[in-house]
Amino acid sequence: MDLETAIRDRRSVRQFTAEPVGDEVLRPLIEAATLAPSAMNEQPWLFAVVRDKALLERVSHGGKAATLAMMEAAGAPRERLEKLKSPAYDILYHAPVLIVIASANAGPWAAVNCGLAAQNLMLAARAAGLGTCWIGQAQAWVSSAEGKAALGLPADCVPVGAIILGYTAAFPPLVPRKPAEVKWIG
Ligand SMILES: Cc1cc2nc3c(=O)[nH]c(=O)nc-3n(C[C@H](O)[C@H](O)[C@H](O)COP(=O)(O)O)c2cc1C
Repeated sequence: MDLETAIRDRRSVRQFTAEPVGDEVLRPLIEAATLAPSAMNEQPWLFAVVRDKALLERVSHGGKAATLAMMEAAGAPRERLEKLKSPAYDILYHAPVLIVIASANAGPWAAVNCGLAAQNLMLAARAAGLGTCWIGQAQAWVSSAEGKAALGLPADCVPVGAIILGYTAAFPPLVPRKPAEVKWIG
């Protein structure tokens, strides 16, 4: 698949088949992530690739509880709280794989470096026929001491993104985009 198609046809996928995703499929995606630029070429990214069902469930429950607590504290609308409280709602959408990208250091470019790596990974996954979705609702738990320990990540790293991945069961339509605000100068 060419880059233009991968960019235009990437979607946040939330329905996956049960087909397992092998190491031979995942390794090139991680490699694509590491081809991203990074400040001073530090390449500070660390990856936790989770396929273990019990750990996926733990991330889902932990992320759900942490997100619910934050949303309640922020006075989120009742419907959003109800959705999160539903036992049927899995914040990881039953995806077979979760990849957490973390920065080994908390420097000023941690989020940018790992965000660039994440986008490479998501586009490479699209080109390989896989679907992905960044799960912000997993962020608080994977960033907690308990989450980092469960993922085998160092206690002082900074998790930046949690991305689910798998073979797509339902390909969503394009989510509409706003026109870009651009100042053309010269
Ligand atoms: C930082 C970030 C956090 C997100 N968190 C969630 C999430 O917790 N759950 C979810 O279903 N989608 C999540 N998304 C996906 C967005 O909803 C999605 O990217 C947006 O609606 C645009 O759709 P598209 O990715 O299909 O173009 C997140 C995306 C980003 C970049």
